[in-house]
Amino acid sequence: MPVAQRQEQTTAGRQGLLVAERLTRAFGGPPVVDGVSFTLARGSITGLIGPNGAGKTTLFNLIAGSLAPGGGTLTLDGARIDGLRPDQVFARGLARTFQIPRPFPAMTVLENVMLAPPGQAGERFWTNWLRPAAVAAEERRNRDRAMLWLDFVGLAKLSAQPAGVLSGGQRKLLELARVLVAEPRLILLDEPGAGVSPPLLALIMEKIAELNARGTTFLVIEHNMDLVMTLCRPVLVLAQGRLLLEGSPEEVRRDPRVVEAYLG
Ligand SMILES: Nc1ncnc2c1ncn2[C@@H]1O[C@H](COP(=O)(O)OP(=O)(O)O)[C@@H](O)[C@H]1O
Ligand SMILES: [Mg+2]
Repeated sequence: MPVAQRQEQTTAGRQGLLVAERLTRAFGGPPVVDGVSFTLARGSITGLIGPNGAGKTTLFNLIAGSLAPGGGTLTLDGARIDGLRPDQVFARGLARTFQIPRPFPAMTVLENVMLAPPGQAGERFWTNWLRPAAVAAEERRNRDRAMLWLDFVGLAKLSAQPAGVLSGGQRKLLELARVLVAEPRLILLDEPGAGVSPPLLALIMEKIAELNARGTTFLVIEHNMDLVMTLCRPVLVLAQGRLLLEGSPEEVRRDPRVVEAYLG
């Protein structure tokens, strides 16, 4: 497809779901994320690759509200989200998973998924006293919804086990179930394939594709080229805090600048 036509589809024709403009962040020294601009097309699975230390996770922290940008803007579905707290960003339908998932090991798998998102404790306190029946009914609904998503990721059988018994791959699936409960429109996945056994990786890839077919947009940090080549279009390449290029997985793989960024 010609570049002009492609641009019309992703930016002018239909505004992107997420638009980042000149995002910048430093930690005292030179910027770790340095003037990064991109558009995530609605319904896409966009890949984000780059060598260790390139700033990928920091970029996720900026998008999810865990870190405030030093400069630049973020727009989700036409509304600015830069400067919002993580729970506010989450409430707008943008969820993220962590590079190293840390479930509460003594709580059951189900309880980990049922943990209330932040910001509701105050309301809950009064409802608990005034309308106990309503609380019980809501708790049942939460439990049913959590079980539904545990079943979706293949962890229903383990729902009563303490989360501490889960393997690395199963923890990635638990993380996915935890964010799916909120039915986000955009999910940021930080290295979903890292430390995951091949059969579980295949399952994770299948679930991403299935959710995407139902309309969920993804931005995925990943080193596993199999996952990137199979699922991601387009792929963004980040090196030393800057966006080096954007292209199809094939274009990216044969670009000499990418090879250099990984080696150099
Ligand atoms: N909170 C922080 N304070 C200071 N330096 C940080 C912080 N977070 C990340 N960095 C630095 O920013 C750079 C990019 O890190 P990161 O975003 O984790 O890279 P990637 O995920 O691409 O491997 C690294 O040099 C890292 O040490
Ligand atoms: Mg990282």
